[in-house]
Amino acid sequence: MGLIMKAIYLIIAAWRSRVLSLLLMVLMAGGLLACSESDQPAAEQKAKVNFRQLPEDPQLAALYQRSCIACHGTRAPAIPQTGDIAAWQPRAAKGMDALLDNVINGVGGMPPLGMCMDCEPEQFEALIEFMAAGALTK
Ligand code: HEC
Repeated sequence: MGLIMKAIYLIIAAWRSRVLSLLLMVLMAGGLLACSESDQPAAEQKAKVNFRQLPEDPQLAALYQRSCIACHGTRAPAIPQTGDIAAWQPRAAKGMDALLDNVINGVGGMPPLGMCMDCEPEQFEALIEFMAAGALTK
């Protein structure tokens, strides 16, 4: 009799743990689904703006990676992001000279020199052109 009870108990325990692991699996799958759903807008934005792009010139790329990318390649909503032509158009309308002045002196949330202390003005211009992705018409 004791043996039978033990066997029944074991079967119930096994069944329970299977139910539990099934439940866990369903919960995890649900969690994964929820995650991929909330990633959707980011994925859409990625399609519009390629946050990994770098200037072709290796020296410029190094400067960009050391400074500008920290703010202009991070999806921060208040900052015109590299390659986001729509965000750059109203700024590009000021003309390169005004943009260059603002980078050098700082503007709004951007610190003077865009945190690139050793960038030359021509390098800033090249970086701005790269970031504005064709929004600037010369
Ligand atoms: C610490 C963050 C930060 C860094 C680093 C940074 N920027 Fe900015 N940048 C900003 C913010 C914030 C704005 C928006 C300023 C505003 O209009 O209020 C901006 C705006 C600009 C603008 C538009 C200015 C205008 O007149 O509309 C240009 C051009 C620019 N950045 C170039 C650069 C370049 C080039 C670098 C790298 C050398 C750089 N930024 C690095 C934060 C940053």
